[in-house]
Amino acid sequence: MKIPFLDLFRDRQAEATDRYTLFQSKDQIFTEQFKNYCARFEYAIDVRGCKVVAISSAIAGEGKTISAVNLAANLASTGRKKVLLIDLDLRKSDLAKGLRFPSTPGMVELLGGSASLNEVLRFVIAQGLHVIPSGKLVPNPWGLLAGEKFRIFLQELRVQYDVILLDTAPMLPVSDTLVLRELVDGIVLVHRLGYTPHNLFRQALEDIGEKKLLGVLLNGVAPQSERYYQQYYGKYYIRQTEQ
Ligand SMILES: Nc1ncnc2c1ncn2[C@@H]1O[C@H](COP(=O)(O)OP(=O)(O)OP(=O)(O)O)[C@@H](O)[C@H]1O
Ligand SMILES: [Mg+2]
Repeated sequence: MKIPFLDLFRDRQAEATDRYTLFQSKDQIFTEQFKNYCARFEYAIDVRGCKVVAISSAIAGEGKTISAVNLAANLASTGRKKVLLIDLDLRKSDLAKGLRFPSTPGMVELLGGSASLNEVLRFVIAQGLHVIPSGKLVPNPWGLLAGEKFRIFLQELRVQYDVILLDTAPMLPVSDTLVLRELVDGIVLVHRLGYTPHNLFRQALEDIGEKKLLGVLLNGVAPQSERYYQQYYGKYYIRQTEQ
């Protein structure tokens, strides 16, 4: 199986900021790596004509939400694309909390018919980003995600946005992301190095399949690997990171 490699980002230096608002991070290496990733991602979706993209991982805690939020915020802030980020981890989400939004009403209420699109949309004003939180968490969202209502909703949003990013549940413990596979144009698999067993990573890759795999994003690259950057990017890299 051919595995497209999107980019890598390192463990962010500890900061007293919110967990997910890393687009405001003072860790310049992290920020720079994320901008690279964002540029590659944009190129990849443009080349492949993708609009709806799920961000997933094999198991929990690999960095899906951190990646989805930062990617969405970076993409939106270029002003080139109208971006919507949807929290589809309907069992265990904390994206809204990380962004300091109320989590309800959100997707669960929208799909359940008790809230309208206008009521669930939130805005990260500085980045020009639109977000829909999860809503009240449900133990089994399979029916909501597999339902006709969600399919129609996504079709309608495709007309309004250039990119729709879906922050999802991990792939192997639950089948939510597999349900989404047919609805999305591509899936980014986040892989946290030294954390996820290789066989589980491989299984997630196979579940996604070559056709839908947009790329792998490596998270948590050890600082030693950054010698690679310094060796090949030379003073450009050092100058940016020494500021
Ligand atoms: N590169 C990184 N640098 C620093 N902290 C990170 C990094 N990647 C992830 N984390 C932290 O690890 C935790 C898990 O990350 P995150 O919530 O993005 O993972 P997730 O895949 O969405 O998890 P879940 O499956 O539980 O939804 C968070 O506290 C996040 O801030
Ligand atoms: Mg998450």
